Amino acid sequence: MDIEAIRAKASGELETADTGSSLLAWHGAYLGRKGEVTMILRSLGEKSLEEKKRLGPAAQALKRDLEAGYTRKERLLKGAADAHQRIDVTMPGIRPDTGHVHPLTQVIGDIRRIFGGMGFKTVEGPELETEGYNFDKLNFPKNHPARDMQDTLWVSAPKGLLMRTHTSPVQARYMEKNLPPLQIIVPGRVFRNEATDASHEANFYQFEGLMVGKDVSLANFKYVIAEFSGQFFERDVDVRFRPSFFPFTEPSVEIDMRIGSGPWLEMMGGGMVHPNVFKAVNYDPANVRGFAFGGGLDRWAMVKYGIPDVRLFYNNDARFLRQF
Ligand code: PHE
Repeated sequence: MDIEAIRAKASGELETADTGSSLLAWHGAYLGRKGEVTMILRSLGEKSLEEKKRLGPAAQALKRDLEAGYTRKERLLKGAADAHQRIDVTMPGIRPDTGHVHPLTQVIGDIRRIFGGMGFKTVEGPELETEGYNFDKLNFPKNHPARDMQDTLWVSAPKGLLMRTHTSPVQARYMEKNLPPLQIIVPGRVFRNEATDASHEANFYQFEGLMVGKDVSLANFKYVIAEFSGQFFERDVDVRFRPSFFPFTEPSVEIDMRIGSGPWLEMMGGGMVHPNVFKAVNYDPANVRGFAFGGGLDRWAMVKYGIPDVRLFYNNDARFLRQF
């Protein structure tokens, strides 16, 4: 083929090559090892001197021009690709995927903050507990079915130890070491030997409250609970006490709440501290009164955020956790 015809064809094709791969194919077709221009240049050796003089410079010029055209087009395509990646400072930012505090830990933070505002101090106790603190000092009679009410996980060795079934043992531990008046809140992990389903976990969290003084009353109790729940749910909350039974409180109540215009929900247990508990920690029941309560922290979090399954808190599924 004649040099000028090749030039025209190559230029036309270069015009339409607008991807990296089509540009590369174009380069191969004309300037590659078996490319048209390369073949012409290579065939010059077999040509007559006259032919060489005529074809040689024209073929060399074509090669130079096509190489230059290739470089130009390559730059053009690369520039277009870069333009796509250039940062547009007017675009909204992209949130980096950093870690954050677990929703249950956030709820513990809320509880500490709100009760802290009412003068309650946060304390903790051991998860591995003795039968004495988990049951005896809380007025559970020996061999009483109340001990089975909470399906206890016993530790095989050393004997007599168990995984605490509630945060109430911390009441006894704290009162033994501190004199009234006192106001504490105890968030912590508890354990029950039960099958898991949407509303039960073998390990979950509770928060215990205890206020003891000279004349702490059930009315004080109701006020504290109403104040806390209103702040926690950031809504109007109605609080209702219903008679119930716990060995360590008398009277005992079940505490129901209605958030906004929602249904009544059973949110925790509580009552006035039983005189036998005061005796067990060497307080004089004639001179002190107090209230105690315990709530399921997971349950409070579920109600607050509309979470249907308690197990979601423990599966570490990032799609769930990222929402908090
Ligand atoms: N410990 C009780 C429970 O786990 C709750 C409770 C705490 C009741 C304090 C009364 C007083 O169900």
